[in-house]
Amino acid sequence: TQPLRLGIAGLGTVGAGVVKIIRQKAALLETRCGRPVVISAVSARNKGKDRGVNLTSYAWEDNPVALAQRDDVDVFVELMGGSDGPAKAATEAAIAAGKDVVTANKALLAHHGQTLAETAEAAGRVIRFEAAVAGGIPVIKTLIEGLAGNEITRVMGVMNGSCNYILTRMEDAGLTYQEVFDEANALGYLEADPNLDVGGVDAGHKLALLATIAFGTKVDFNAVELEGIGCITIEDIRQAADMGYKIKLLGVSQMTGRGLEQRMSPCLVPATSPLGQLDGGTNMVVLEGDEVGQIVLRGAGAGMGPTASAVLGDICDIARGLRIPTFGQPAANLAVAPAAVAATP
Ligand code: NAP
Ligand code: HSE
Repeated sequence: TQPLRLGIAGLGTVGAGVVKIIRQKAALLETRCGRPVVISAVSARNKGKDRGVNLTSYAWEDNPVALAQRDDVDVFVELMGGSDGPAKAATEAAIAAGKDVVTANKALLAHHGQTLAETAEAAGRVIRFEAAVAGGIPVIKTLIEGLAGNEITRVMGVMNGSCNYILTRMEDAGLTYQEVFDEANALGYLEADPNLDVGGVDAGHKLALLATIAFGTKVDFNAVELEGIGCITIEDIRQAADMGYKIKLLGVSQMTGRGLEQRMSPCLVPATSPLGQLDGGTNMVVLEGDEVGQIVLRGAGAGMGPTASAVLGDICDIARGLRIPTFGQPAANLAVAPAAVAATP
């Protein structure tokens, strides 16, 4: 059997996790994928860095674009991050070179996913991105495959673990937003640009991608109404608790009479509800379909193992020959939805 040959760009938390799983679980993956999954070449910025994994058997490329174009690569695995720059250039190069793509990069897809998916599909390639939304929770697979017989009526959830950690810790420890923000930053929980987390941008990227799949509409991150958690005070949290509520950074998307609503903002949720009981850095996605009713998915939205787990799920699908379009249907067929709320400038 022909092995599926990977080129992995980015060897940080997620990339190193993917390499580890492939090295440690080669036999299991071969069984599950129907053929061996092997790494041909890797790329990162610093070749000499110790990443806790043995990379000596893989070719090294300094330039991720060159990695994406290699003849011994079938699938380009983009785990560098960033909405533009090398992630975008290398993904475009991979598609042009006839490779499939697996990525965990929600920023890239929220900004350029529509064009990238159309280009990939015109070239007969697929882009998969399970890890980009809610980390280890297989929410995209559930929406596209498991709920294929449903009209999706609403998707919502807590999709940024860092914000959930901050809000939970403010409540549990009685600390101010700034105290917990500083603590989370010192612990390395926040993105290099923390506003991506606390400004709701990262969660907004994820919501825009889920809305596209759920409602068959073109990716429109600019139409996501965004409000972060920086305005939440300990007094807000205490008053919510007194009334039996918790404050969560909640994303909601649904088709309304006025158009597609995409809103990511701090919301009151009943303290006894599944969303209200979601503590710490965990994610929860709630999917509602006309046939199935409500489904609640809960799990780790970040971290080495959970995120790499989702990347491997996509790789395995490609190895088995599943050619699922990026957003579950041809990207060129997606409709433009009128935004139900004014876009945040
Ligand atoms: P990370 O730890 O910062 O790793 C990024 C990797 O990309 C590093 O290995 C870095 O190289 C490499 N890189 C950056 N710029 C490069 C360039 N110009 N050329 C080659 N390599 C380059 O990031 P991460 O946490 O693994 O995240 C990777 C992706 O997964 C991002 O899109 C992120 O949003 C997404 N994601 C992450 C998580 C998570 O829990 N971490 C969860 C879900 C999704 P060096 O190591 O040499 O600096
Ligand atoms: N910064 C993100 C979070 C990482 O806190 O959820 C995973 O996407």
